[in-house]
Amino acid sequence: MVNLHSAPGTAAPHRCTGCGHVAPRWTGRCTACGEWNTLVAGPAQAKRRGRATAYPVEPALPIGQVTEQAISLRPTGVPELDRVLGGGLVAGSVTLLGGEPGIGKSTLLLQVLGSMSGCGARCLLVCAEESAAQVRARAERLGAMSTNLWLLAESSLEAISATVEELRPDVVAVDSVQTILASEPAGSAQGSVAQVTAVSQGLSAVARRLSCSLVLVGHVTKDGALAGPRALEHLVDTVVSFEGDRHHSLRLVRALKHRFGATGELGLLSMGDDGLSCVADASSMFLADRREGVAGSVISVTIEGRRPLTIELQALVAQKAAPQLPPRRFAQGIDAGRLALLLAVLHQRAGVAVGDQDVFASVAGGTRMAEPGGDLALAIALASARSGRAVDPGTVAIAEVGLGGELRQAPRMESRLAEAARIGFTAALVAESCPDGPAGMKLLRFADLRAVVSHLGLRPGR
Ligand code: TYD
Ligand code: MG
Repeated sequence: MVNLHSAPGTAAPHRCTGCGHVAPRWTGRCTACGEWNTLVAGPAQAKRRGRATAYPVEPALPIGQVTEQAISLRPTGVPELDRVLGGGLVAGSVTLLGGEPGIGKSTLLLQVLGSMSGCGARCLLVCAEESAAQVRARAERLGAMSTNLWLLAESSLEAISATVEELRPDVVAVDSVQTILASEPAGSAQGSVAQVTAVSQGLSAVARRLSCSLVLVGHVTKDGALAGPRALEHLVDTVVSFEGDRHHSLRLVRALKHRFGATGELGLLSMGDDGLSCVADASSMFLADRREGVAGSVISVTIEGRRPLTIELQALVAQKAAPQLPPRRFAQGIDAGRLALLLAVLHQRAGVAVGDQDVFASVAGGTRMAEPGGDLALAIALASARSGRAVDPGTVAIAEVGLGGELRQAPRMESRLAEAARIGFTAALVAESCPDGPAGMKLLRFADLRAVVSHLGLRPGR
């Protein structure tokens, strides 16, 4: 197949012969590396203008003949982050660290760079939001001082690229991508989609060429309203999200996208006066302040990544503040739709109605229930709150609840039951098909929610 080389100005894809960046149309200057007259049509390897180019330039290869590429991993020194990244930062890769303002991104970055530089890696921190003196003061407090850690308080893309070229660091972290300004496209506002795209493309080109690991910090608001970082997700190799409730110390780290390994693994950190520390036993932490024997409290074991976590689901059913008000349905750490569904199933299939009372449901400890394995525990918590009768504190509940009120087995039951047993629970309310648990764990198998509610004595009027 022969394709004609496009003339400058056409909308066909063009590739930069300098850095390999692919642009949707011809432009005089490459937006990634800033070189002039380097864009050529299609995947051509050399600068050819105004002549016909035959395709394909690169022949297809049997997959077994493709040269293997060794991935070089640099551990970050924060084990919970390494767990999420599959071992550490990959040389020549670009990682976006996204999270709400004030959640602790700069703190995490400084601890990572302090640790990596302490282990001999040359690290450059570009701080465009704070002065170098402020960052130094924080680094001293966090014990992140190292002769291998360099600071650059700069917001010009071109100046940062020049420093990286000169310093040749192993790791470059930019805090934050929204505060860096590229000279092209001229006139676009700092933090705009055009700017953050140009900044990350420019920095990525340099990082890939010099094989350094680039970390870009991006502020994301709760509803993802800030377009910038979201627009970057397809440009980077890894997207790490840093989440948490600012009123709690717990911070959750997840990889939303990872070109070099699995996503879905969860890292748990705790923010304290000395910065972030890894949470070794999250299940015990979540249950530390639990009050036993209170109506409306039920324990479940959820799965985050490959990790089972014991969580406490709490419910409260209360009289409305005023008769003319509509009943409130409030969910924290639980999907509001899931709460509404379980209230409807409880009413229609198990005979437990909350009527027009207010209902509050939450997951204690600042975490959340993100999978249906916690359905049964939440439904029992609601029925317990409704009846005012507490559930045995040594019992956990793990099953999905269907619209028919039937209990379905949640995935990875062996691992969940083993975690419950490790924490000291002795009984589990589960679906009929559930496999046997570990020694010392008594399984109470039920076909549907009505049978569980009856067994626990939570039916109204009893
Ligand atoms: P920061 O890393 O600046 O957040 P981000 O970069 O995501 O905007 O951290 C913000 C909060 O963390 C700040 O309110 C203070 C708190 N913090 C601690 O509680 N302990 C610490 O050791 C540090 C450094 C910060
Ligand atoms: Mg910050």
